Order: sequence, then structure tokens, then C-alpha cells
Amino acid sequence: MLLLGIETSCDETAAAVVRDGTEILSNVISSQVDFHKKYGGVVPEIASRMHQEKIIPVIKEALERANVTLGDIQGIGVTQGPGLIGSLLVGINTAKAIAWARQLPLVGVNHLEGHILSCFFENNVPLPIISLVVSGGHTNLYLINAIGNYKLLGKTLDDAAGEAYDKVAKLLGLGYPGGVVIDRLAKGGNSSAIPFPRPMVSEASYNFSFSGLKTAVMYYVKKRGDMTYSEQELSDIAASFQEAVVDILVQKTLKAAHEYNAKAVAVAGGVAANSRLREAMQQEAERCGIPAYFPSLILCTDNAAMIAKATEHRISQVAAFPYNMNARSRWPL
Ligand SMILES: Nc1ncnc2c1ncn2[C@@H]1O[C@H](COP(=O)(O)OP(=O)(O)OP(=O)(O)O)[C@@H](O)[C@H]1O
Ligand SMILES: [Mg+2]
Repeated sequence: MLLLGIETSCDETAAAVVRDGTEILSNVISSQVDFHKKYGGVVPEIASRMHQEKIIPVIKEALERANVTLGDIQGIGVTQGPGLIGSLLVGINTAKAIAWARQLPLVGVNHLEGHILSCFFENNVPLPIISLVVSGGHTNLYLINAIGNYKLLGKTLDDAAGEAYDKVAKLLGLGYPGGVVIDRLAKGGNSSAIPFPRPMVSEASYNFSFSGLKTAVMYYVKKRGDMTYSEQELSDIAASFQEAVVDILVQKTLKAAHEYNAKAVAVAGGVAANSRLREAMQQEAERCGIPAYFPSLILCTDNAAMIAKATEHRISQVAAFPYNMNARSRWPL
């Protein structure tokens, strides 16, 4: 089945054409990050207006790159939530218009299911797995016994891991978004230079907390006073902060894998692009005798191929045209 995926939940306008839920024929992502940079974060009003400008050209490009026309498309999947309402509505209304005009089945997809399934494109993932979705808005741990059956084991009680990266980067004057910059800086740093805390790491629950860690970095910076850092000092702070985040994520994920006899762990979402997380999770999972799967970098970030993949296994359940489909800013999976 040839499906068109559409994703506009935050600040990426994305469209993709995927065959049979496995073969990505095109995966076009137009990022607005440069427009939001000067504000230090995503501005919802700007994001929705930019989606409005980009959505048709991005869909057109996805069809062209896949070498297909709208006439070849057999169904559409669009991110229905969670995300920014104004942003989601642009994708939903465009998807509705195309589906209505072409009389195609339309599926409203949960963005988090998209992230989870992004691991399944390039890997033959055995079930059950423990899936860690770690992004700008979420840090969720799921037990997955079957595709479509997601049991939430734990989540962050405050900041998401990606949010902590972005806030710490801001504190250090490194700009927005912070994840990539901290990842790069940390490579030259000593990760045990500063003993930042690992909140909730040894608690029995699978919940996370990153706001205390961010505050610990803030106190460290305040105590030091002078905001002029040498490159080495910055790298040490970045590496020490990152090691704390990675430690927490790896320990909780593998503890869950052990408790639920998972055959593998899979990590997805923007922070899954982090080089230290990829390395540490692989190493520790190997030590536990199970594989750790990560999507390639282009599938970690928000994209529409993952939305088309999630559509594939839900499309047979579509009964009537969902004319009343609405955006959902919050939508637990
Ligand atoms: N290499 C990296 N290391 C750490 N964090 C990273 C890296 N690359 C990106 N990030 C972080 O990933 C986050 C963006 O991820 P993503 O686009 O999946 O989030 P989102 O879509 O805004 O949130 P959600 O998926 O929860 O709705 C940002 O916080 C960014 O700093
Ligand atoms: Mg996302």
C-alpha cells in the first residue's frame, strides 16, 4: 500500500511517501529552527504560519522525490497530536482536504507512536521490547508486546530530557536548540569533572525527573560567577551534564528490560540522536545480552515517514471519513 504521511506537530513541516510500511520512497523535512533560534525556543504563532506556507510545497516535493502522483496514493496519515494546536491544524486540514478530494482513507496518528515505530524501519525488532521515547516534549518508557499495544511504564514528572538539554544550553549561552551543541562540546570534555546528581535513578518506579539536574547546573554556573568559560570548562560541564542524563536513561531502560524479559530495547525521538546515549545504551544492552536499536539520525528528528508507518497498521480500521477529526494538544498513547 502506498501511503502519504504528513507531520506538523511542532516546528518541522514534513511529508513522506512510504510503501507497505517498510520502504521509504521519500522523506522531506523542512525545519523552521533558524526562524525560532532568535527567540530561544519555538514560537507557536510563527510555527503555524510557517507550516501554512510550507505544507503544499513539502507535500509536492515528497511526491516528486518518490516519483509518484497523488493518483497513486492509497491512503493518508497525519499527526493528530500531541503538539502545538495551531501547527497540528495545518497538517490536519491539508490532509483532510486531499483525502476528501481524492476519496482516500485518512488516519489521525499519535506522534509518539510514530517515534516508537521509527525504530522498526531499519531493524527487525523482536518483541517484546522496552521502548524509550526521549524528545523535546517527552521522556516515556513503554513495554511493547505487539505493535499497537503500548504499556506506559514511566514518564518524566517535570522536564523532558530534550527540554533539559535545551535549558542547560541556554544557561551556558550556547543558543537553541541545545542538544546538538552539548553533544558536540561533550566530546572534548571530562564526563566526571562535575558530580551532577542523577535524580530518581535508584527509585523503584520508572518515572524520570530532569528539572533538579538542570537546577544543579544552574547553581554550579551561579556559584562560579564569572560567565566567561574556557572551551575546556564548557566541554567539562557539557560532558558531566550529559553523562548524568545518559546514566539515568540507560539505567531505567535496562532495568525495565530485565524486569519484563524484553528481547531488545529501542530508543526514539530527537534525543535518540545523541552520540553518547547511542554508545552507552548499546554497550550496556550488550552487557545484558540484548540488542539496542536506534533509528538513523534522519528518523530521530520529527519526520513524516514514521507517521506513514504508523498509518499502515491502523488504516484497515478506518470505517468512515473522519470529517470531525480535530487536533489534540495532549494525547497519551
Ligand atoms: N544530538 C542530540 N543530543 C541531545 N539532544 C538532542 C540531540 N539532537 C536533538 N536533540 C534534542 O531533541 C529535541 C527535539 O526532539 P523532537 O523533535 O523529537 O522533539 P519534539 O517533537 O519537539 O517533542 P515531542 O516529540 O515530544 O513532541 C530537542 O530538545 C533537541 O535539543
Ligand atoms: Mg517529536
